[in-house]
Amino acid sequence: MTNSDRHNIRTALIPAAGFGTRLKPLTNIAPKEMLPLGRKPTAQYIVEELHASGIDDIIFIISPQKTLIRDYFGDTTCDGSVRLRYVVQEKQLGLSHAILCAEEAVGNSHFAVALGDSVIISRERAFPLQRMLRSYAENPAFGVITVEKVDLADSYKYGMVRPVCEPGIQPFEISALVEKPKPEVSPSRYAVGGRYAFGAEIFDLIRRTPPGVNGEMQITDAIALGMAEGGRVWCTPLTAEEHRHDIGNFKTMCEAYVALSLLDPELAPSVAKAIRDSENGR
Ligand code: G1P
Repeated sequence: MTNSDRHNIRTALIPAAGFGTRLKPLTNIAPKEMLPLGRKPTAQYIVEELHASGIDDIIFIISPQKTLIRDYFGDTTCDGSVRLRYVVQEKQLGLSHAILCAEEAVGNSHFAVALGDSVIISRERAFPLQRMLRSYAENPAFGVITVEKVDLADSYKYGMVRPVCEPGIQPFEISALVEKPKPEVSPSRYAVGGRYAFGAEIFDLIRRTPPGVNGEMQITDAIALGMAEGGRVWCTPLTAEEHRHDIGNFKTMCEAYVALSLLDPELAPSVAKAIRDSENGR
């Protein structure tokens, strides 16, 4: 087992066992995490992001049907620098349940979580995940979350946090968080952005948290329970230069496809031309 301590997290989970209902019929042929964005499958961007942030032990949480993820990635990355493991979530009971399925594989390590349908584009020198791990190392937190500022009208799509003080670009502590609130009751415009760092105590919190929104076991609720019991949580915000793409529905998946293609030097000219041509009605 990889020994990840608080100051040197090397293990990360990629929950990738959801049904992909909103992307049917595409998800009849491949799990959403394997759908292409430009020339790579979505999950490959996430593996590369984790590796660039010092992670060398990745555990995918997959459904029994999602063998394609395992077939594609195998047990190690091409250069052998990252070990890949797989845990099967037999029943899709929610995100925190998926994380709980990896308890044995994680052991007593501190670990990161990167949602398999969420890609972050960053041109900053320290990637968002690195900043999150640094904040976890430096603060007395049982959890650190990457957050992004969203339109208040979209709060019902996300976990939303309540900062202790008006946030700037630095990590900030929060006093509460809630899953998918309506805009009128959202605690702020800062949304949970699909990246987390935890210690092993999160597993016990997950076990003690009842199902929440949509009858699913929500990691937001498990974190809220930890805070109700006196635990502290910090957030690291994405900068104005960073963008998170959620590929959970067709609109955002298509936006992600275009955004990542435009960052690919070989694809960018023809994709940009296709956009210009279509705008000019050609
Ligand atoms: C999940 C989390 C939510 C978070 C979101 C980010 O929601 O439960 O807190 O804001 O991912 O994408 P889901 O997209 O699975 O509904």
